[in-house]
Amino acid sequence: MAPRARNAQDIAALRRNLLVWYVANRRDLPWRRTTDPYAIWVSEIMLQQTRVAVVVDRFRAFMARFPTLVVLARAPEQEVLALWSGLGYYRRARMLHKAAQIVAGHHNGNLPATAEELRALPGIGAYTAAAIASIARGERVAVVDGNVERVLCRLERWEADGGTALKRSIESLAAQLVDPQQPGDFNQALMELGATVCLPRNPQCPSCPIKADCRTRGEHKTAPRPPMLSREVAYALSVRTSPSAGKHSAREVLLEQRPASQTVMPGLWELPTLRSAAVPAGELRMTVRHSIMQVNYYAHIRTVFEDDVAALAAPGGARRWVALNEAAGMALTGLARKVLLRAHLLPAAPLDSILPAAASAPRKSRRGSPASRASR
Ligand code: ADE
Repeated sequence: MAPRARNAQDIAALRRNLLVWYVANRRDLPWRRTTDPYAIWVSEIMLQQTRVAVVVDRFRAFMARFPTLVVLARAPEQEVLALWSGLGYYRRARMLHKAAQIVAGHHNGNLPATAEELRALPGIGAYTAAAIASIARGERVAVVDGNVERVLCRLERWEADGGTALKRSIESLAAQLVDPQQPGDFNQALMELGATVCLPRNPQCPSCPIKADCRTRGEHKTAPRPPMLSREVAYALSVRTSPSAGKHSAREVLLEQRPASQTVMPGLWELPTLRSAAVPAGELRMTVRHSIMQVNYYAHIRTVFEDDVAALAAPGGARRWVALNEAAGMALTGLARKVLLRAHLLPAAPLDSILPAAASAPRKSRRGSPASRASR
C-alpha cells in the first residue's frame, strides 16, 4: 500500500495547517522549553511507555539531580534507578546511564549530531534518534511513534494490522510529509495531534487541523491486542523496630535485591520473594495487582515475622533491614512501593518530597493529558 499521491501544494498546506495548530495548542511541557539534546533525550526515553502527566514531575526531578550528561554519567546506578522510580521499565534508565557514560568517555560529553550516529548508542533506536536529531538539531528526519502511526493510518484509511508492510508505508508517508524547515516542530505537532485530538477512541475530528486531508474522519480498524497473561507471586512483608534505635523507635522493613537470573527487576529493591505463592488465608495481608508489559501479576503479600523469614523466603536475594524513611528514597520496584504505600509504611506524598533532597525540583501545575495510555 503506497501513500496516495499528493502534490507539493497539498503537502505545503498540510504542513502549514498542522504547524499553525501546534503553535496555538501545544501543551507547555518542560522539555519543550529547551533545545538541549541531553534534556530532550531524557524526556523522549521517559515518554516511551509512560503518560505525559507522570513524566512531567519525574523529568523535573531527574534534571534537577542530573542537569548534564556528564553529571548523569558519573552518578551511581542506584541513584539513577531511584530517580526513575515511578516510571517503570527500568531497563530504559540503565541504558540511558550506560549511553551517557559512553558519550562522556568517547565524545567529550557531546551527544552525536545526527540520527544515524545517535542510533549507535545503547537504548537509542530509530524513534529516539529521530526525535533528538529533529527537535534538538533540526535534522529532517521523521519520528514515528504510536500516535503518529494512528494519525497517518487515518489520513490514508489504512487498517492497522501490525504488519511490516504497513509499517514501511507509514514510515515512507512520514518521511514525505515532514517539514524540511521545522522538522522538530512538525514531528512534535503530529505526536501532539495524536495525543490530544486524533485519539484512539472518540477522536475530536471537528478540531483537527488536517481533517481536509483525512480519509477516515473517525475511528479506524486496529489489530486486536494480545491478551494479558496472569501470574501469581507472593512476597514477605516483614517490619520490625530497629534494634539500634534509642528512645525514638525507628521502624525498618526487610528488602532484598535479587540476581538478574531470578528477577525481572535486577538492581532494584523488592520485598523478599516467598518460596510458595500459596499464602494461607489467615496470613494474607493484601493482594495487589501489578501489570508489567503483557502480564498481570497478582502479588499476595504475607506478613512474616523476622524469625520466620529464613524459612519462608526464597533463597538468593541479598537482604537488608532498611529504615522506612530511607526506603522511600531508594530504587524500589513499582510493586514494592505500591505495597508499602498501601500498608501505610511510606508517606503517601508525591515522589518529589520523598526522593533525596537534591532530586527535589519546584513543582509546577501539571498539564492534563488524555486518559488513554496509548495517546499519552
Ligand atoms: N511523545 C513523545 N515525545 C513527544 C514530543 N516531543 N511531543 C509530543 N509528544 C511526544
